[in-house]
Amino acid sequence: MAIERTLSIIKPDAVAKNVIGQIYSRFEGAGLKIVAARMTQLSQAEAEGFYAVHAARPFFKDLVNFMISGPVMIQVLEGENAIAAHRDLMGATDPKKAEKGTIRADFADSIDANAVHGSDAAETAAVEIAYYFPALNVYSR
Ligand code: PPS
Repeated sequence: MAIERTLSIIKPDAVAKNVIGQIYSRFEGAGLKIVAARMTQLSQAEAEGFYAVHAARPFFKDLVNFMISGPVMIQVLEGENAIAAHRDLMGATDPKKAEKGTIRADFADSIDANAVHGSDAAETAAVEIAYYFPALNVYSR
């Protein structure tokens, strides 16, 4: 089992619903440790930079506008197979398809406002952690 770190974002819809604590409990209950965190309001440039890989997708503008619509809570989670463990907790991108008991099934309203983001692979986790926490060494613990 590999100890990994992953980048997690609680999106504006979930922050507005006041469920940061409930989502953090799920991380902790799954054995994921919060090793860095900050609440912020993303600028348009920050959100566009973060989602640059999706720039050609038809929903890019909507995604960026949604991510800057209110504060987000950004954290780095650490634990055994943290990337997959976090994605299991999140559930499918579309909450209608997310398994019962996952964060998106319980807290998200739609594919546009889907409560959480999580890195999808080790390479993206390294890039995403450095994007929001440049002083944090991805592999140090
Ligand atoms: S994933 O999780 O990256 O495999 O999902 P993907 O389908 O590739 O989606 C990439 C990100 O875009 C968001 N998304 C959308 N936003 C707005 N409208 C629509 N229709 C839409 N479809 C997908 C999706 O939530 C992913 O954002 P993050 O923040 O990575 O979860």
